[in-house]
Amino acid sequence: MTFVAKQWVFLPVVGVLSLFLQPFALGNPQVPCYFIFGDSQDDNGNNNYLNTTAKANYPPYGIDFPEGPTGRFTNGRNQADFIAELLGFEGYMPPFANIKGQDITKGVNYASAASGILDQTGRQLGDIVSLNQQLQNHRRVTSQLVRLIGNEAATKEYLAKCLYTFAIGSNDYIDSYLLPEYYPTSRLCTPRQFARMLIKEYSQQLRKLYRLGARKIAIFGLGFLGCVPGLLSIDGTCVDSLNSEVQLFNEELKPLVDELNTELSSAHFIYVNVTAITLSTMPAEITIDKSPCCNVSTTVSAGQCIPGQIPCSNRNQYYFWDDFHPSEIVYEASSRLAYSALSSLLNAYPFGIGSLADTDSREKLEIQ
Ligand SMILES: *[C@@H]1O[C@H](CO)[C@@H](O)[C@H](O)[C@H]1NC(C)=O
Ligand SMILES: *[C@@H]1O[C@H](CO)[C@@H](O)[C@H](O)[C@H]1NC(C)=O
Ligand SMILES: *[C@@H]1O[C@H](CO)[C@@H](O)[C@H](O)[C@H]1NC(C)=O
Repeated sequence: MTFVAKQWVFLPVVGVLSLFLQPFALGNPQVPCYFIFGDSQDDNGNNNYLNTTAKANYPPYGIDFPEGPTGRFTNGRNQADFIAELLGFEGYMPPFANIKGQDITKGVNYASAASGILDQTGRQLGDIVSLNQQLQNHRRVTSQLVRLIGNEAATKEYLAKCLYTFAIGSNDYIDSYLLPEYYPTSRLCTPRQFARMLIKEYSQQLRKLYRLGARKIAIFGLGFLGCVPGLLSIDGTCVDSLNSEVQLFNEELKPLVDELNTELSSAHFIYVNVTAITLSTMPAEITIDKSPCCNVSTTVSAGQCIPGQIPCSNRNQYYFWDDFHPSEIVYEASSRLAYSALSSLLNAYPFGIGSLADTDSREKLEIQ
């Protein structure tokens, strides 16, 4: 079984897109920089040089991306790309693996497919960059920024204006808790205990990021993992027990966001409700073919596209690109919902990524 995963979204694609169509405001981004932490929903090449089967730098991945296969786990742009566009950036944040000689002042993408909150997650596939390691990499980048900007105080002020997103945790289920042959966790703890263990670790990781100067932080919850093609039951239906286990994580995550907002009062944290985004875009009748667009491997890199095969041609009509990842059009629709988060749809709490980007970190201090 492979990694990652994602929020998949059932949506009447055309209807949703037309609701949220707005031209990208190119050239004048809302924030000076954007840093991305996460797994394959956001990875844009960090796993390419690692010894792991969790990589996507071969065709047909990237068939709709201008540069072709880059390591993104979809046919075109991924979640981080769409959020960068919505924020008004002209380009995408470079993968940490390639930052040598690149401009890091606009942000860096640290995301690594198959990674998780726990260090052990995804190891059965080879090397990955765990969330703890992603945070170490960010520490190195902040030191480089101090050298570029010239002094620590100005760098701190700069980092406080940046946006930070976290979309991680799916693999702690798919590539850890659900693999008793590799990891004993499911024998040692109940689903609720496991969710609490993840949240405890996540809490420390988010506090570490705060200490590195972050003040605008969006945290994505988990979607319906039990409904991705690679995890469906034999009769093709969603695995409800897995969906319920994952909801326990979400239920603990929202209070963590409240706690962090209270304790770290100069920062803004938001919770992106991926469940709500999925539900609010799901058509009343699910009649869609849930098979993925590309032919997926059943052996090595199970669930990933078979290298070199020609995928479906009508890619905008497929929710899933491979067995675990949505197609570009779904990333686009869900990113727009997370960004605009109409409060009536409860897509993000207490507000969406677009509003988070516009917050002034001092605002909250003054109110209190
Ligand atoms: C890559 O990983 C595999 C399995 O994890 C291991 O057997 C192999 O020795 C590794 N190769 C290198 C070059 O590290
Ligand atoms: C997310 O949204 C769903 C659907 O609106 C709602 O039932 C659920 O309680 C929300 N989750 C959290 C953690 O707020
Ligand atoms: C994908 O798999 C189907 C059925 O297994 C097969 O008929 C089709 O030719 C494959 N597509 C490619 C491009 O190989």
